[in-house]
Amino acid sequence: MIAIDEPSLANVLGFMALVSYSITLIPTILRIVFPKTKDTGIPKLLLKHRRIIGIISFLLALVHGLMMIQKRNFDFFDLKTFEIYIQGITTLIIFTLLAITSNNWSVKKLKKNWKKLHKLTYLAMFVLTWHIWDKMSGHWTYLTPISIGIMMGIIALFALRLRIEHQGKQQISEPKLTPAKLPTKITK
Ligand code: HEM
Repeated sequence: MIAIDEPSLANVLGFMALVSYSITLIPTILRIVFPKTKDTGIPKLLLKHRRIIGIISFLLALVHGLMMIQKRNFDFFDLKTFEIYIQGITTLIIFTLLAITSNNWSVKKLKKNWKKLHKLTYLAMFVLTWHIWDKMSGHWTYLTPISIGIMMGIIALFALRLRIEHQGKQQISEPKLTPAKLPTKITK
């Protein structure tokens, strides 16, 4: 039988960071993949609170990371440690960049680059999945399958979103020739 471990507080905080991070991705997914949800007002509500949810996610992840560092006697002078924690550290760096630029001042200052920077959130999706898979391998807690399920769901919806956007762009660049647009009689 597979033994399931009890999650520690650090694990619970990591899980809460993951859930709040996923919530920040939902409004755009809903708008594009399930446009009818617009009528419920849920995407608008999530969008309104997206910044604060993102900052909460960063803080939870930070405490989770610090607790793990303390628990595992992190040696900052050993490159091997960075190798082991590469996914966690990368995700935390992304979360930090997003959190410190989640304000109107940064949007104004960074202009077009702000959008580019915030696209890093999609990279975090994959690195975070790898982080959980790698770090929890062989000692899953009951939170591990839920986390992996959430991330796989988010990745699948993100792929669907990209497909829909791609199809939309194609339709704009190659408008269908409707009868009205077809050339009428060619006269010499
Ligand atoms: C944005 C950043 C991060 C998020 C959202 C995150 C999230 C998570 C989640 C959800 C788990 C699995 C918990 C479970 O299934 O019970 C986990 C495990 C783990 N995380 Fe992170 N993490 C992040 C950053 C970090 C950092 C910076 C470190 C350390 C430097 C770290 C170290 C670990 C370790 C060691 C585990 C395995 C825990 C165990 O063996 O029980 N994480 N993380």
